[in-house]
Amino acid sequence: MDFPKYLFFLMLSSLTIKESLQGPNQQRLYKELMQGYNPLVRPVENDSQALTVNFGLTLMQIMDVDEKNQVLTTNIWLQLHWNDTYLQWNPEDYPGVSNVRFPDHIIWKPDILLYNSADERFDATFRTNILVDHSGTCAYIPPGIFKSTCSIDVRWFPFDVQRCDLKFGSWTYGGWSLDLKMLEADITNYVSNGEWDLVEVPGQKNKRVYECCEEPYFDITFTLVMRRRTLYYGLNLLIPCVLISTLALLVFLLPADSGEKISLGITVLLSLTVFMLLVAEIMPATSDSVPLIAQYFATTMVIVGLSVIATVLVLQYHHHDPDGGKMPKWTRVILLDWCAWFLRMKRPGEDRVRSACHNKAPRSSLTSMELNASASASQSNNGNMLYVGLRSMESVPYSTATTSPDSGVLCGRLVARAGEEELLLPTAHASSVGSLEPELAKILDEVRFIAKRFRNQDEDESVCNEWKFAASVIDRLCLMAFSLFTILCTLGILMSAPNFVEAISKDFFN
Ligand SMILES: *[C@@H]1O[C@H](CO)[C@@H](O)[C@H](O)[C@H]1NC(C)=O
Ligand SMILES: *[C@@H]1O[C@H](CO)[C@@H](O)[C@H](O)[C@H]1NC(C)=O
Repeated sequence: MDFPKYLFFLMLSSLTIKESLQGPNQQRLYKELMQGYNPLVRPVENDSQALTVNFGLTLMQIMDVDEKNQVLTTNIWLQLHWNDTYLQWNPEDYPGVSNVRFPDHIIWKPDILLYNSADERFDATFRTNILVDHSGTCAYIPPGIFKSTCSIDVRWFPFDVQRCDLKFGSWTYGGWSLDLKMLEADITNYVSNGEWDLVEVPGQKNKRVYECCEEPYFDITFTLVMRRRTLYYGLNLLIPCVLISTLALLVFLLPADSGEKISLGITVLLSLTVFMLLVAEIMPATSDSVPLIAQYFATTMVIVGLSVIATVLVLQYHHHDPDGGKMPKWTRVILLDWCAWFLRMKRPGEDRVRSACHNKAPRSSLTSMELNASASASQSNNGNMLYVGLRSMESVPYSTATTSPDSGVLCGRLVARAGEEELLLPTAHASSVGSLEPELAKILDEVRFIAKRFRNQDEDESVCNEWKFAASVIDRLCLMAFSLFTILCTLGILMSAPNFVEAISKDFFN
């Protein structure tokens, strides 16, 4: 029983000490102002009049924009000014007292709240004192960290401009009892944000009439217009993506024999997926709109995926089995003639073969050479035969085809390819062979077999070369097409953002 009594006296004594420190005038003033004052009463002279509250805000800082949860966190000082008709005094009666302060629950104050609050306590303001001067003008400036809902449209991310509304209004008073007057938002003390550029904070007073009653309801809505600064996302997401998609083009430059074409393509695809996951982590899981950057990543992934498919085709052509048959006619026409001409590609050794085939002479000379060789062999002894044959082989190219040293051999191959190899064996051969010695005939057979083998090998090789050339044509074609496509997509998608140029010029070149 003793303890509470003691406490009570302690409180009382501390209260009197405090009041006595404030001076007699203030003490008297507080006493007189509070006499019969009821904080529940709306302080107007005539109850059918509306009380006007001037409302504004000071934006101190944008603390966070949570795209995923669609919450904006801001540091704001509210500003409320109104006239309390019961709190007026004559300053001459109380010298030295220009204004007085009241805790917010002692006198009447408007119940203005942030309508679109997302705070746990709903009202996030810190209850400060209310400053009152002799004319009854009350100034209430509660600061607070406001969390407000804001529908964040990430369509143009990271080149987006967000507009977040902060809707303030009286929770219980209608427009006939409490009128709101807007003050312009004050951003002189704004602390700039690393991610967002504040563009402007326009405000607007709205009037709303519900169906139930005639009384209008006022609210004041400030709109935070802020532009995302692109440098961070440009450096961390866009530039890597552009570089990676450029790497994907190198797939077509890589030689097919290196065996790394597919792995390069797949690696590029995987690294794009990693970046896409990063983007997905930031973005809200909404299907309302596809963010620009996700669109870009998806397009790039499609391009890289297609390039992997094209690479498989190229490799299939490159490693084509020569026994798998010759190239279909239309493929040959399209790839080897049209596309090669369009891409200004020349088949390896094309010039050489053409010029060598210009004169048809070597073919007959070769036949005659063989005839000569066999004829001369029949006359000489068998020890000399091979030597003579080789000698005549050596001498013929120099004598008949002067354009290039190996043109005779090349054209011989060409002729053989045409399926006329039997022509090389003269019809009179059989009779001459008959007259030869058996060993010589055997050797000649062997030589013919070796020649045929070489011819077959050459033929296979030329078929292979044709496929390989077709593969390189496809490679080059894909390089062109995909480069063009990548450049168009990059420019087209990124530049479709409304403030792309502004963002780049402000964030990157500053
Ligand atoms: C209050 O205001 C209304 C209209 O403004 C007026 O008709 C009425 O007479 C006033 N009452 C007093 C007590 O002044
Ligand atoms: C309060 O009263 C003063 C003087 O009568 C006037 O100038 C001021 O605009 C009023 N303030 C409000 C918020 O109505």
